[in-house]
Amino acid sequence: MNISSTKPISAFSAAAAGARLGPVKIERRPVGPRDVLIEIDYCGVCHSDLHMANNDWGMSAFPMVPGHEIIGRVVSTGAEVSDLAVGKRVGVGCLVDSCRQCEACEDHLEQYCAKGFTLTYSSPTKDPGELTFGGYSKQIVVDRNYVVMVPENLDPAAASPLLCAGITTYSPLTHWKVGPGMTVGVIGLGGLGHMGVKFAHALGARVVMITTSPQKGEDARRLGADEVLVSTDAQAMAAWASKFDFLLNTIPVPHDFNVYMTLLKRDSTMCIVGAIGPIAALNTAPLIMGRRNVAGSLIGGLKETQEMLDFAGVHNITADVEVIEVAAINEAYVRMQRSDVKYRFVLDLATLS
Ligand SMILES: NC(=O)c1ccc[n+]([C@@H]2O[C@H](COP(=O)([O-])OP(=O)(O)OC[C@H]3O[C@@H](n4cnc5c(N)ncnc54)[C@H](OP(=O)(O)O)[C@@H]3O)[C@@H](O)[C@H]2O)c1
Ligand SMILES: [Zn+2]
Ligand SMILES: [Zn+2]
Repeated sequence: MNISSTKPISAFSAAAAGARLGPVKIERRPVGPRDVLIEIDYCGVCHSDLHMANNDWGMSAFPMVPGHEIIGRVVSTGAEVSDLAVGKRVGVGCLVDSCRQCEACEDHLEQYCAKGFTLTYSSPTKDPGELTFGGYSKQIVVDRNYVVMVPENLDPAAASPLLCAGITTYSPLTHWKVGPGMTVGVIGLGGLGHMGVKFAHALGARVVMITTSPQKGEDARRLGADEVLVSTDAQAMAAWASKFDFLLNTIPVPHDFNVYMTLLKRDSTMCIVGAIGPIAALNTAPLIMGRRNVAGSLIGGLKETQEMLDFAGVHNITADVEVIEVAAINEAYVRMQRSDVKYRFVLDLATLS
């Protein structure tokens, strides 16, 4: 399929919801004065890519070139971009534009833009193709304001998941001031969860991995967890009741919240980042009896994404990745659905000709 005909760029695309992804040619807009042309080296594979490719959230537009954990090198810049030299290692995350005027944008929280931000893929745009196309492609053109700098000491493949999984966990952990003296539970050891464990550990908290997979316990400890709690073990869960200062919930499917709420101390918060839609029955008793809170959090703004990358650079934090060729993406989606990835797939764009 040819999404556009001029200046073709190789990409991988899904033609419709649930369709297998395959090779296509796309076109990017010409580099404008504030734009950066990036040669993409690696792109992480987020569970949101799978949700979007399956249209789980009813907001997907096709053809879709997924990918919002983008790491590459600057190829060229527009005349007004003075701080990004050619060859510089840069990243692009989940959003490539926002209104730049609303309160959220002024507060550097573009992900909560009142007018709605532009997703890196599957959003309407004036660019060729009329939809944004993401990082499962060789090149991308992005406004400088939405490009972040990646510390050169980080391995680029392993750093790519920082652009979504990293910031989505770092943002709530720092918003809720996770640090020394706190006991933090990270629920779900997948792409987000393993980054959550690493960041919570680096921030100085005592970290408990809360998992449905006892066999992941050893990995969890290696990643920085001090303890492992198997959520299907009712006795163990009861022993941890009212012990947590903060819970970060990354489960990607609807589930029973109530079993986790009772783990919180009085006045503490469980933050939901797994995008799960409506929940059936939230028992208000643990909320009322312990003045506990349920909250949500969406990725992070550009300023805190840069801060997260700088923190990752200083602490040498990257993802544990399985680097795969682009043509293996359909198999990767199947494995991700089975929670069978350690702990993030990353596409090597050099394998796309
Ligand atoms: N809020 C945001 O801004 C944001 C950003 C990015 C992604 N997301 C969403 O966050 C979710 C997680 O993404 P991800 O990339 O980390 O996914 P992932 O790599 O597939 O990991 C999810 C983990 O959740 C656990 N899990 C899976 N099914 C479960 C079930 N039925 N019950 C309990 N636990 C289960 C598994 O860990 P264990 O084996 O350890 O139990 C699994 O490894 C997705 O829904 C994604 O769309 C949200
Ligand atoms: Zn993501
Ligand atoms: Zn805005």
